[in-house]
Amino acid sequence: MAKDLKIAPSLLSANFANLSEDLEKINRSEADWLHLDVMDGVFVPNISFGFPVLKAVARISEKPLDVHLMIVEPEKFISQVKEFGAMMMNVHYEACPHLHRVVQQIKEAGMKAGVTLNPATPVAMLSDIIGDVDMVLLMSVNPGFGGQKFIPHTLQKIRELRELMERRGSKALVEVDGGVNLQTAPLLAEAGADVLVAGSAVFKSPDMIETICRLKNS
Ligand code: DX5
Ligand code: ZN
Repeated sequence: MAKDLKIAPSLLSANFANLSEDLEKINRSEADWLHLDVMDGVFVPNISFGFPVLKAVARISEKPLDVHLMIVEPEKFISQVKEFGAMMMNVHYEACPHLHRVVQQIKEAGMKAGVTLNPATPVAMLSDIIGDVDMVLLMSVNPGFGGQKFIPHTLQKIRELRELMERRGSKALVEVDGGVNLQTAPLLAEAGADVLVAGSAVFKSPDMIETICRLKNS
């Protein structure tokens, strides 16, 4: 069992016709954060939800908000993300030609800065930014949809990221997103993940609170 494994349920798989019921359950659970996926139909081939929904969710959620922006030009929205109360703002490496500037701007706005890698982006691309980030989010599926199959190579990437962080003296958290369930969670914890995002495994399970508890004890 990993020490202090954090669980961040992803709202993408919740019941959007009755979000408050699902959010109350998350509030009552052992979840550490709430993960919120914003998609623009450009960076990823899907659209999820935007600021009106995020603001409403923030009013109900008692968990720190971990915002995952799957959008182009995420730097345009730093102040709006801060305004609704995000704790962590994750931007994609692939969406930011001026990543260093974006990371500094997120931190200056008073949020923690996370950098996300798509499955095909090597961990080595973070070599010159790892010292500046609060978290690295490794995608273990191609971003855009919930309920996809876990890509096993992610386990190797976690180990490589840990090595890079060790060399650079980085204390960043390692978060993994996509295909996390009761089978993959122990493998991810063992490989060195600090935070696991879980969408369908939590919201499609018969007992969300129990599933979150079991994931946390992976
Ligand atoms: C996918 C999103 C995920 C998604 C994960 O692009 O970033 O956060 O909700 O869903 P599951 O856990 O079902 O793979
Ligand atoms: Zn996500």
